[in-house]
Amino acid sequence: MPTTLPRSNHSGSDRGVLERYADFLPLTSATPRISLGEGSTPLVRSAHIGPAIGIDQLYFKLESSNPTGSFKDRGMVVAVAKAMEEGAKAVLCASTGNTSASAAAYAAYCGLAAYVFLPKGGAAAGKLAQSVAYGAQVVAIQGTFDDALRLAREFTDRHNVSLVNSVNAYRIQGQKTAAFEIIDALGDAPDHLFIPVGNAGNITAYWAGFKEYAEGRLSTRLPRMMGFQAAGAAPIVKGEIVEDPQTIASAIRIGNPASWKQAVAARDDSHGAIDSVTDEEIMEAYQRMAREEGIFCEPASAAAVAGLLKAAAARDLRGTTCVCIITGAGLKDPDTARTLPWHEIDVPPNLAAIEQALPIT
Ligand code: F0G
Repeated sequence: MPTTLPRSNHSGSDRGVLERYADFLPLTSATPRISLGEGSTPLVRSAHIGPAIGIDQLYFKLESSNPTGSFKDRGMVVAVAKAMEEGAKAVLCASTGNTSASAAAYAAYCGLAAYVFLPKGGAAAGKLAQSVAYGAQVVAIQGTFDDALRLAREFTDRHNVSLVNSVNAYRIQGQKTAAFEIIDALGDAPDHLFIPVGNAGNITAYWAGFKEYAEGRLSTRLPRMMGFQAAGAAPIVKGEIVEDPQTIASAIRIGNPASWKQAVAARDDSHGAIDSVTDEEIMEAYQRMAREEGIFCEPASAAAVAGLLKAAAARDLRGTTCVCIITGAGLKDPDTARTLPWHEIDVPPNLAAIEQALPIT
């Protein structure tokens, strides 16, 4: 059981979420200070998309740079540390893929068993590969994510396993640290925060983080929370449960978000919005992020960028500071990347053939 930081060098931004934000987290002296190096992710200024839409101060928060390639690690490190503190031997989650990858990694690191309930066929290939590699027991539920989460809750009521979905309050506590980092980097909160919404834990966590810093006078203002669901999986936008959610962005293929009420509160309290974007808009933003910004994100993350483009077309955002949360890495979902138009030039192994094929003078 790692009770110290065996692999981290304890220095600078390499400390992990528990060390860096210990004062803001529900830690005790008995909480193991574990870390896989999560948090302290880059905030990168937009090279092309921002200038193209007149937003000079547009930043991307690269949560894809976390150890398992998504924002989930911030909350998972707290949830797993607290599970360890409470003597748990196993963790369980329902997931569209990223939560399961993160739970599996931290469980492996801490010597716990991990059980992951995935909607059958609903997790992208890279995420499933991660769960398998980290040694989790995968349970393919023949239903939706919402079915998997309901069953995960019922299962943990009856068995001695710790539920590490974002209904676990420690997950939200850990995830709120991303809002702290944005303020720490910019010197204050941005005007607008653009974020994809699935089970709605992340928008809940960011809003909690922004409020906490403002209440502690570590920032002077609050951002408008701009959440985006995929059009085929937009229960909050529609105001009703979606029984059979559909979208290319499998991470947010969710019809009955667990933190629905909290997301609505974040939207309303911040004078923000929760809107939807179509799969076409998501794919357009996905390609632009890779080809104009050099940021290969997963489709769910591109929903936030698609939302920004939609919002910027509808009203004037010039002069404002905007942050888009890039929640997960593009490599998680290679099958979607392979659907982009591309062609390979096939050549024999000689320079003349390559020179003939490539129109470079
Ligand atoms: N982006 C990515 C890459 C995600 O994996 C998720 C959620 C979201 C956005 C939405 O965040 O649920 O807090 O509103 N993934 C969960 C999972 C559902 O199981 O990995 P949310």
